[in-house]
Amino acid sequence: MPSSLQLVRSPTSMRERLILALDVDDLERVKVVVRLLAGEVGMFKVGKQLFTHAGPPAVKLIQELGGEVFLDLKFHDIPTTVAKAAVEATRLGVKMFNVHASGSLEMMRQTVREVRRVCRQENLKRPIMLAVTVLTSLSKSDLEKVGVDGEVADQVVRLALLSQEAGMDGVVASPHEVAGIRDACGRRFIIVSPGIRPQKGKRNDQRRVMTPEEAVRGGVDYIVVGRPIMEAKDPLSAVREIISEMEHSAAL
Ligand code: C5P
Repeated sequence: MPSSLQLVRSPTSMRERLILALDVDDLERVKVVVRLLAGEVGMFKVGKQLFTHAGPPAVKLIQELGGEVFLDLKFHDIPTTVAKAAVEATRLGVKMFNVHASGSLEMMRQTVREVRRVCRQENLKRPIMLAVTVLTSLSKSDLEKVGVDGEVADQVVRLALLSQEAGMDGVVASPHEVAGIRDACGRRFIIVSPGIRPQKGKRNDQRRVMTPEEAVRGGVDYIVVGRPIMEAKDPLSAVREIISEMEHSAAL
């Protein structure tokens, strides 16, 4: 089967389902962390900070050290521009990347089409394509100010359905929004959630958090965790503790 037509495989082990957010501006730190944790987590998330600081070499470094990358740049622009950026993310060999669903059905459709085409032509592995619904930092009143009336949860489901219609593989959403998305989009639609805190940890600036166990039990496919691991005295133990919390959900 051509790689572009392969179905996106659901993650199986809890290790695969843990994504570590590398929110740092220092490639030396990246090297140390990835060397330590490449065999322990499923993916490393490279976001706007690290990518603006170091660019594609940050992605290459992680891959050379045996890690997979979620490129979290949340593309939002005219359809052609986003599709071309998505093609470059594909050529970088990232396992996952994302766009903003509010960029439009056409923006997402063109992205899906171009990524599939380039994977066929260049025999590349197709990345998992995700859409961000509503940022968890936005409230009902923030949405009203930009002309979106109604409940945040309804807007999340509306954008998740639009992403699915465009052919995206899934969405990034708060763990609190998972039930509504699952009802609307079904079991195979991928949901990636940040805002996760281990049972004993600090909340930092995350407001509506969930534990790893609650998130997995609620139907989240991949969880994103940053500071509870990056700021831990012993990051390896922190990762193992989180995976063990995730495993509790399956034991029940
Ligand atoms: O350190 P912490 O676990 O809070 O990191 C969560 C990561 O997920 C950060 O990279 C943050 O930018 C990202 N994120 C989030 N909330 C969203 C979208 C992304 O916390 N709604």
